Amino acid sequence: MKFNIDFSSLLGSKDLIAIDIGSFSIKMVQLKGSGLKWTLVKAKTIPIPAEVVSQDVNPIEKKSILISLLKDSIKQEKITAKSASISVSGSSVVVRYVKFPKISKEDLSKSIQFEAEPYIPFDIKEVNLGFYIIGEVTEEGQKKTETVLVAAKKDIVQQKIDILQETGLVPAIIDVDAFALESCYEINKEPDIQEMTIIVNIGANVTNVTIIENGISRVVRDIFIGGSTFTKALQKNFQADYKQAEEMKKKHGLLVSIEDKENALKDDNKDALQVSNVLTPVAHDLLGEIHRSIDFFYSQRGEQQVLNRVLLTGGGAGMKNIEKYFTQELKIQSEIFDPFKKIDIHSIKIDNPSEYAIAVGLATRNTKEK
Ligand SMILES: Nc1ncnc2c1ncn2[C@@H]1O[C@H](COP(=O)(O)OP(=O)(O)OP(=O)(O)O)[C@@H](O)[C@H]1O
Ligand SMILES: [Mg+2]
Repeated sequence: MKFNIDFSSLLGSKDLIAIDIGSFSIKMVQLKGSGLKWTLVKAKTIPIPAEVVSQDVNPIEKKSILISLLKDSIKQEKITAKSASISVSGSSVVVRYVKFPKISKEDLSKSIQFEAEPYIPFDIKEVNLGFYIIGEVTEEGQKKTETVLVAAKKDIVQQKIDILQETGLVPAIIDVDAFALESCYEINKEPDIQEMTIIVNIGANVTNVTIIENGISRVVRDIFIGGSTFTKALQKNFQADYKQAEEMKKKHGLLVSIEDKENALKDDNKDALQVSNVLTPVAHDLLGEIHRSIDFFYSQRGEQQVLNRVLLTGGGAGMKNIEKYFTQELKIQSEIFDPFKKIDIHSIKIDNPSEYAIAVGLATRNTKEK
């Protein structure tokens, strides 16, 4: 789904850098290529300082810290691209699937404000609107245009635009996290295989979920449980500070099978057991929300559809045994997704590939597409 929130009508030069500004780190990716053939030019993660992540600084300070981090990194990495693609998600972004009586793309762009208003729970004047036409369907003898509507509150879009502009970049494409994940999935999938996949991108504050059926995201949801929810649970339980809790989380992760737990007992590894006991209820809550998205998908698309695979991405997918936990609890094959699987990365070293899923998807966009 080549999606752009109506703001800049694809301004900017041809060279484009993808910038995924998260709450834990900023990911930058530059690719060369098209279609299914891509080469990596750049992949870089910029960690955000702990005091910013744990929200100990005010929004104005945070903004200037992000801008200077980005500026430094662009200089260091000798990035010459002047245009950027970014994406938004969270509670200020709404995605709706609507079937309008048959309408052309041109006509819909002219009347989008009016047509979208009934479906958008925000004041229509306070949002940036975008749409994507999936295709035509016939329902009860009537031709309809199946459309994805997106409304993003202007202030959150503007916040990201400001960061780019003050860094010296032109915001060319403003996508939605879930659709960037879809783009990343598309360039990495095996040709000729039609599968129903759910991508779960576990960030620090947000987990983006998208269910893809035949190449199109059919259910898009953001869940407000992520890596930092796990960290906070550890902080509370062990009276630990943020850094200690992060370390514990990364060191131990989850113990899933009875065997794993027995081994930890045998080795007298109390820490691993205790940490897992605190992390598991959070993973359980996250799973509950994912279950709801899957149920919603089945209710919309019919029970005959079968989800074959869960792909885990985002920094949170680095948690030990998380894929085992998902496979066991969801009873669907779950695996860690490598966003660079089909990309020629030559000798570039990438530390935590799954962090880059959104940025890779954003990097497949270009300023010349319609
Ligand atoms: N090995 C690991 N084990 C457990 N958690 C990890 C590991 N590596 C990273 N994380 C967690 O992943 C999270 C960061 O993920 P990511 O970089 O995708 O977030 P983000 O995009 O910056 O945040 P968001 O999109 O939610 O604003 C952090 O909570 C971090 O602690
Ligand atoms: Mg993120």
